[in-house]
Amino acid sequence: MTNKLAFRLSTHADQEFIEAIYPEAFPDEDLLPVIRDLLREPSGILSIVAVSDGAIVAHMIMTSCKVAGHDENVALLGPLAVTPEWQRQGIGSAIVNTALEKMESQGVAVVYVLGDPNYYGRLGFMTESKVMPPYPLPDAWQGAWQALSLGSNRKSLDGRLEVPQPWRHRELWS
Ligand SMILES: CC(C)(COP(=O)(O)OP(=O)(O)OC[C@H]1O[C@@H](n2cnc3c(N)ncnc32)[C@H](O)[C@@H]1OP(=O)(O)O)[C@@H](O)C(=O)NCCC(=O)NCCS
Repeated sequence: MTNKLAFRLSTHADQEFIEAIYPEAFPDEDLLPVIRDLLREPSGILSIVAVSDGAIVAHMIMTSCKVAGHDENVALLGPLAVTPEWQRQGIGSAIVNTALEKMESQGVAVVYVLGDPNYYGRLGFMTESKVMPPYPLPDAWQGAWQALSLGSNRKSLDGRLEVPQPWRHRELWS
């Protein structure tokens, strides 16, 4: 990993650079609508950029959520993208770990993600079966729904993840 890499909260001025990463990293998916909606949310969003020599090379969002019937604060990880030429240099892992530390310091009990288990498993995520995603997943994606408990006071949660409006689009989950 480059020595000059820094992580910080994104600002409004970063948006065009954030938006440039996703079509390159995910050429087959259009994540820009949900990213724009999330960045417009007045609260409950942690948006972090990785910056190298002044250039934004990665971005991720954590969304504050609840599990139906539980008081604990939980979060949903994603989207996450690293500019192709900067991939496989530890930046994705580092930005996730930066966000997880922040979530833990804020008392977030569990972080959920819908993503490749080969990747998120390396970061400590495990397949989740008690807390369900907001919409039923296709059978082929069942193993992609994962969770990571934070802190020492591990809670056993069950129920459906309640997400804010930007995530309430069935096509994001199918
Ligand atoms: C997935 C992504 C966020 C990972 O960030 P990164 O900075 O490249 O990853 P890191 O350097 O932290 O970790 C590298 C390891 O993650 C794994 N990895 C990287 N990209 C992967 C991918 N697309 N799928 C599965 N595993 C992946 C590999 O095991 C790799 O280790 P290796 O280089 O020793 O084989 C980034 O590559 C990206 O934005 N990719 C485009 C989108 C994508 O493919 N998403 C699918 C996964 S959700």
